Amino acid sequence: MEPNHLISLSAFCLSLFLGALFFRARRRKFILRDLRGPESRSFWLGHQPEYVYQKETGESEFKWMREYGSAWRVQGCMGEDRLMVADPKALQYMLHTSGYNFPKTPDTSHTIRMLTGDGIGSAQGEIHRRQRKVMAAAFSVPHLKTFLAQFQVTASKLAQKWKDEIATDKNHEPILNLSEWLSRATLDIIGEAGFDFDFGALDDSDNPVTHMYENLFVDSLYHGPFDALFKSFWRFLPESILDLLVYLPRREYRRFRNYLSGIREVSRGIVRKSIVKGDGRDIMSVLLRANGSEDPQTKLSDDEVVDQIGTLLLAGHDTSANSLTWFFWELAKHPESAQEIREEIAAVRARIGARDFSIADLEGMSTMLAALKESMRLHPIVWELSRVAARDDAIPLAFPITTKSGEHITVIPVRKGTHIDMSFCSYGRLPEVWGEDAGEWNPGRFRHVDKEKQISVGLYANLLNFSGGVRGCLGWRFAMIEMQAIAATLLENFEFSLPPQTSETRIIRNPLVLMVPMVEGHMYPWMGLKVRCLD
Ligand code: HEM
Ligand SMILES: *[C@@H]1O[C@H](CO)[C@@H](O)[C@H](O)[C@H]1NC(C)=O
Ligand SMILES: *[C@@H]1O[C@H](CO)[C@@H](O)[C@H](O)[C@H]1NC(C)=O
Ligand SMILES: *[C@@H]1O[C@H](CO)[C@@H](O)[C@H](O)[C@H]1NC(C)=O
Repeated sequence: MEPNHLISLSAFCLSLFLGALFFRARRRKFILRDLRGPESRSFWLGHQPEYVYQKETGESEFKWMREYGSAWRVQGCMGEDRLMVADPKALQYMLHTSGYNFPKTPDTSHTIRMLTGDGIGSAQGEIHRRQRKVMAAAFSVPHLKTFLAQFQVTASKLAQKWKDEIATDKNHEPILNLSEWLSRATLDIIGEAGFDFDFGALDDSDNPVTHMYENLFVDSLYHGPFDALFKSFWRFLPESILDLLVYLPRREYRRFRNYLSGIREVSRGIVRKSIVKGDGRDIMSVLLRANGSEDPQTKLSDDEVVDQIGTLLLAGHDTSANSLTWFFWELAKHPESAQEIREEIAAVRARIGARDFSIADLEGMSTMLAALKESMRLHPIVWELSRVAARDDAIPLAFPITTKSGEHITVIPVRKGTHIDMSFCSYGRLPEVWGEDAGEWNPGRFRHVDKEKQISVGLYANLLNFSGGVRGCLGWRFAMIEMQAIAATLLENFEFSLPPQTSETRIIRNPLVLMVPMVEGHMYPWMGLKVRCLD
């Protein structure tokens, strides 16, 4: 055996032993025991293989939800009891009401740290509060108008690139990998809109920054159930030890390390080029002013500024791109919806002539907006978030559940340290919230949702695609207008359809950290759609 493997193996065994001790101690005081939930077939892995590594996002959860209601017990590694929730009131409580009492789990938080260093995504508690306060200033409503101009420049450029591709295809109907095109477009957008920086990703597919992101999630995060077991020990290790993990001789940790050092290099380059624009509210000015601040409440350190740039590049790039791939996929499957949207866009076009769409124009395209929401409901790219109870607590439920002993309960007591999976993909399909047709494509539902009856959980359209509460997505308005602008431009110019469905083209909803479209058996993202030019 190679010495490298020997080191990994001994580290692994040691943590296994330590962990076993801790879990035995914890199990004794567990109080989720009376909750119903699926039986686990593996002591070591619990249900991890059935949801973290299932073939299609949510398949197991939807089944469990039908059986047990909107909250149930699952098993983590080594017999650890966990709570899984889809109930809106429970989610509201954990995200908003009691947000800072449900921090990210140590393994989630550290994984984010491996990708984004000291950025806001991995910060917790007071540090998080400070960073968030500073950064929120860059995402206010008035700022959207300036962002929109950039969204449109990039959307038009993307449309032109596609027209060129189509012109050179012999049938004028090539299959385009939307994962790739949209990822390049959104990288250019976040570079320009965020930092006045031109990555040139649409112009040059061989661009070094594009390569840094290529398959990042697949390479660094998809490595089988036993890694989940390894990660379940991270909570017992101090941050200083966890920081050494990236030196483990394994492909995925090497990928983390190379990516972070590469993106820090890029971010430092961006900082060197930047100047504070007076009281400018653009993202870069906000960050740099915070670096200059004397007030410890609003100060960002040098390293924090650099890592916020990397964080925003990551958080604001493949997120929007992936959400859009699912949207165009649904429209390819539902041409009647696409046609309805196209008519709506044509009506706006007839009214405004050749000028660009304004924010009001985009917001007025209610059919398109409903379809975007519906696609995000069915395909929340952040399909679950893990949290841990920081103290003994009681989580309220909107919809009572029945326990093993037959009791109907509306509150779930949890002990400090309990691991809770917030299953956003299940919430999106909860019949009590969305109706009996929750599993179906029906954008019309957003026209008549009864706002009074719904419990407010998410930041947007009561979807949880952007999470919510104290750690909700900072860029949600940015992302919505970005997606609306790209969608309107592309739908005005192109028609999308599914290529012939074979095992080589059929899309699965892969539960990576982001829900990424893939073809079964291939380890890269892929959303191949036939694209035809409309004029
Ligand atoms: C459709 C696109 C997007 C989706 C679905 C999305 C979703 C999310 C979700 C679910 C979270 C919570 C993550 C967690 O708690 O671990 C989050 C956080 C965040 N997002 Fe987004 N996001 C999108 C686009 C963007 C964009 C465009 C930006 C910036 C330009 C952005 C910036 C952020 C930041 C800074 C956070 C961290 C907030 C915090 O920890 O306080 N996101 N996003
Ligand atoms: C499709 O695009 C994604 C995202 O850029 C890329 O990682 C993947 O390799 C592409 N797939 C193919 C088959 O080219
Ligand atoms: C932050 O401020 C320090 C001094 O206050 C300065 O040396 C440093 O260059 C600044 N960093 C950035 C990223 O502007
Ligand atoms: C957005 O994502 C969340 C996650 O489930 C999902 O519940 C929600 O239904 C999705 N869409 C909307 C519109 O909420």
